[in-house]
Amino acid sequence: MQDAARELAENVAVAFERARAMPPSVYTSEDFLARELNSIFAKDWFCVGRADALANPGDFTTLELAGQPIIVLRDNAGTLKAMSNVCRHRMSTLLEGRGNARSIVCPYHAWTYNLDGTLRGAPAMTRNAGFCKSDYRLPEVRCQEWLGWVFVTLSADAPDVADQLAKVAELIADYDMANYSQTFFETHNWNTNWKVLAENFMESYHLPVCHSGTIGGLSKLDEMICPPGEDAFNYHTILKDESLRIAMAHPSNTRMKGDRRRTTYLLAIYPSLMITLTPGYFWYLTLHPDGVDHVRIGFGGGMSNDYSHDDDAQANFEQLKRLLDDVNVEDKGCTEKVYKGLSSNGAAPGHLSHLERPNYDFAQYINARIQTPDA
Ligand code: FES
Ligand SMILES: [Fe+2]
Repeated sequence: MQDAARELAENVAVAFERARAMPPSVYTSEDFLARELNSIFAKDWFCVGRADALANPGDFTTLELAGQPIIVLRDNAGTLKAMSNVCRHRMSTLLEGRGNARSIVCPYHAWTYNLDGTLRGAPAMTRNAGFCKSDYRLPEVRCQEWLGWVFVTLSADAPDVADQLAKVAELIADYDMANYSQTFFETHNWNTNWKVLAENFMESYHLPVCHSGTIGGLSKLDEMICPPGEDAFNYHTILKDESLRIAMAHPSNTRMKGDRRRTTYLLAIYPSLMITLTPGYFWYLTLHPDGVDHVRIGFGGGMSNDYSHDDDAQANFEQLKRLLDDVNVEDKGCTEKVYKGLSSNGAAPGHLSHLERPNYDFAQYINARIQTPDA
């Protein structure tokens, strides 16, 4: 067994009450990253973002999942579909970024595909006797929608998202997560390992200090609840107070009672969808490694539709976005410092706080995945 995997196996064999942070090698080892790509990102469901960002026929987004270029789009029948983003001619990639397309035109020789992946036309191919247009179509990739989220997987065997995440749906049923609209989505790339950013999200221990310039003052360590995690996710909750009105349940929201109306869920859905869900707004990160030392970040968010009829709805969105941008700058600073520190010779993992229970569960998940026999 390679060193990083062995060190992680030893690290997670300790009970939570005595546990330490993961060893530096799991963040810096190229071999370990290769195992993560093969055993995690090529096997589990990966979140692409929100379905309402792909509302109209032809709306598409592209991604690279464990090295595989993928298109996710809404076809003319209104169905969300994922397919290979690799041309069936001489294998160029097809679409880039996000946008709307009536058809998929290869940028190399203009073979053109319909939104269902079938080949519509190919210039100057009539003289090759072997070529038959109907033999060609972009291979499909599994794609599922759950509570407004879009997931894809390269695996034929991964259990359906709704089954894997049934307990999440139950926990937050009164938030009605499908009833939130995305108002922004951006991509970023930070100089840290993807797990450092994922773990940063999983604990609110850092809020009072790292976020002292923004939400730190709203977050009290003794109001954080960090239950043991489940197979497919972990979570913790914090309470916010009235000073951040848009985090509260809207007055018209009669679904939520008592402290639920000011409870924020921090959901970490493995491997890399991190959702902050308040009764008023949500934001999320979807993370993919970009080498050991960089992380590709999809960053989106928006408001509960309960807020959408207010006169100040637009002002609320703007306030939310400003706040989240400021919070993000703080997280970028903290997670890049962690990566720098853990890459140094003197780095050694210390003990975890009881507020870092989700981090412990995440380490168990990573370990279980990368120790599988075909890893
Ligand atoms: S590689 Fe796509 S048309 Fe030639
Ligand atoms: Fe943070």
